[in-house]
Amino acid sequence: MKTRIAEYLKDVESFKASTLEQLEEFRIKYISKKGLIPGLFGDFRNVDAADRKEMGQLINHLKTAVQEKIVSLKDALEADTSTQESGMDLTLPAMPTLGSRHPLSIVRNEIIDIFSRIGFSVSEGPEIEDDFHNFSALNFPPDHPARDMQDTFFIEKNPDIALRTHTSSVQVRVMENSQPPIRTISPGRVFRNEAISARAHCIFHQVEGLYIDTDVSFADLKQTLFYFAKEMFGEDTKIRFRPSYFPFTEPSAEMDISCNICGGKGCNICKYTGWVEILGCGMVDPNVLESCNIDSEKYTGFAFGMGVERTTMLKYQINDLRLFFENDLRFLQQFDASH
Ligand code: DAH
Repeated sequence: MKTRIAEYLKDVESFKASTLEQLEEFRIKYISKKGLIPGLFGDFRNVDAADRKEMGQLINHLKTAVQEKIVSLKDALEADTSTQESGMDLTLPAMPTLGSRHPLSIVRNEIIDIFSRIGFSVSEGPEIEDDFHNFSALNFPPDHPARDMQDTFFIEKNPDIALRTHTSSVQVRVMENSQPPIRTISPGRVFRNEAISARAHCIFHQVEGLYIDTDVSFADLKQTLFYFAKEMFGEDTKIRFRPSYFPFTEPSAEMDISCNICGGKGCNICKYTGWVEILGCGMVDPNVLESCNIDSEKYTGFAFGMGVERTTMLKYQINDLRLFFENDLRFLQQFDASH
């Protein structure tokens, strides 16, 4: 009898259950009416009087071990709700889910696509720029107040090294390294020391455009941007130009498109004007051409620069620019992965 009890005890101590059903079987095996422990108590009647005390203690010890085992395994199994209650099979292979492209990438790619159809190439430049490429070559004189238009993150002073404040710096690099005809767009990240809000961020994206050749006129600029607006926002889109100022273009303009939300009737997106601002542009100032070793007597050109965030907000009716940087899946999953 002693060896039987020892075997049972070994079995009880090493027992493990991965489901409540297995645990119930264990309980029935040992302590149900016809279980092993009541069986031991039955046999106890035949034990010699001298051994009774020891045998009684051994059986009781075994019984306690079984009861403790049941309580602890039950607690552990019930705590593991992931497999028990949700019915989830954790051994299944992962479902293949397709990622979606970020809305800013979708729109940047679309801008590139639209301009490449009319012969524009893509060029890129560094995000860390010197003063010459970000300001001086673009006709910002030293200490000119126009430099304050863009709150710059400086990395070093004298000579100045900064995070570029616009992708116009890439214009300069392209012109330095090639001769007209030049037809290029430059997408990229830009940086400005601005407070973050629904309408502004310290990091954002622009696409710069540049076209230099003989006899390029403002009419070419208008037609090119009119084509762009219709491709991007729909065939019925209208454009208008308002006079503006940029040091690197003369004359300069800002272009508006007819509000694509209300169709020009007036709504809170266009502040009831029927128009929304979309980009800055103008004829490249001869000083800029000369800074980049291009003969301003022979060549003329136009340039434009647009914000990718702004264009995306208009296209998808997004009202807070911060959404682009939060990476909230509920926002990102709304954009089609096929672009
Ligand atoms: N660089 C300007 C900005 O960041 C945008 C711009 C305006 C670019 C007019 C141009 C231009 O090329 O002609 O605000």
